[in-house]
Amino acid sequence: MSNRSSRIPGFYKKSLDERLRIVAEWAGLTSEEVETLRNLGSLPEKIADSMIENVIGGMTYPFAVAVNFKINNKDYLVPMVIEETSVVAAASNAAKMLRHGPGIIAYADKQYMIGQVHLVNVSAPRYKAMKIIEHKEEILDHAKQQDSTLIKLGGGPRDLEVRVIDTRMGPVIVVHLIVDVLDAMGANTVNTMVESIAPLLEKITGGEARLRIISNHAVYRLARAWARTSPADVGGKDIARKIVEASILAEADPFRAVTHNKGIMNGVIAVALATGQDHRAIEAGAHAYAARSGVYKPLSTWELDEEGMLVGSIEIPLQVGIVGGATRVHPVARIALKILGVKKASELAEVMAAVGLAQNLAALRALVHEGIQKGHMKLHARNLAIMAGASGELIDKIAERMIREGRIRYDYAKKLLEEYLKGEKE
Ligand code: MEV
Repeated sequence: MSNRSSRIPGFYKKSLDERLRIVAEWAGLTSEEVETLRNLGSLPEKIADSMIENVIGGMTYPFAVAVNFKINNKDYLVPMVIEETSVVAAASNAAKMLRHGPGIIAYADKQYMIGQVHLVNVSAPRYKAMKIIEHKEEILDHAKQQDSTLIKLGGGPRDLEVRVIDTRMGPVIVVHLIVDVLDAMGANTVNTMVESIAPLLEKITGGEARLRIISNHAVYRLARAWARTSPADVGGKDIARKIVEASILAEADPFRAVTHNKGIMNGVIAVALATGQDHRAIEAGAHAYAARSGVYKPLSTWELDEEGMLVGSIEIPLQVGIVGGATRVHPVARIALKILGVKKASELAEVMAAVGLAQNLAALRALVHEGIQKGHMKLHARNLAIMAGASGELIDKIAERMIREGRIRYDYAKKLLEEYLKGEKE
């Protein structure tokens, strides 16, 4: 039994190197491992150390660019950061199928977020809810004082919603402050605003404000994208019909809908990571929206129109920003936004919705056609070859041989590499 203690007073106050030394000793890390962890890649140490607490190193993910995207008649190179093989290739592939005319059409209008104040211990809560509405302008005015920059730019508090909810501890009042956050993700602004109006709400209701926080159920911040393509572009009428049937299955079966949406989120979250977004908020919001009817549903659908064309559409809440947070602090996120060339948060949301739709088409097409494993296996085999130590031409040689022989395994990759290297020497 180990007598080590994870109780390390003042760990957060130590330097990065000191913290790393402690962890290295704890885990018995080799000097090579320490060096690997110490490599912060493209993130300056100062920034890394100020972004989160207790930093001991960095972890780099591949940064890729999906090609072929035409959205609202504009061409985009889409930065994606993801650990899963095939996602970038699949997105690029589907984007090629959806380039006709203006390409994918996408539209994100309002950038409205909801901030919540929960009021407990309120007597006559239904009457008090009305009293809150009576003071609406005063409350909105108060919230406005919190962010003069946002107001100057044309954003700010827009509305108030008041709900009385029956809970296990009796009725509570939930006030929603609706804020147009423009180009920010909005959490900071909204949280400041709801904290500021809470005392006012307490005064009006005689209750006690408890939780004062943004809601990530961003139902007023929707992005939509839709596209139309000929069956020939997806591999023929039979495949187009099966894509529609796959979409219908997702509508009927929540178990399938979750995976269907997971495929959408492969694309959405890869763009979110590249551009430094709060991807947990996006993920939570998307799934809550998918379940808003009480039954979990797909975020996208595929149909055939009267001319037999394959048409797809997606509706997804996207709480994304291009100012503030990691989008500005992380140098790579800044570069990603520059590559993408988006001018507004709404445009970023449009691109992400379009990527989600394309990603979904690619997944459904693969599933109803050759199955998902074939493409995956090729990349998996290449990865194994690289892990075994292959480089250059040998990567493909080894991968192809493993696929041909149906033996896609690390030990076999190693064996083949040894064989090839020996052959080269002789
Ligand atoms: C894998 O990451 C994503 C898929 O499972 C999505 C889907 O099934 O639609 C292929």
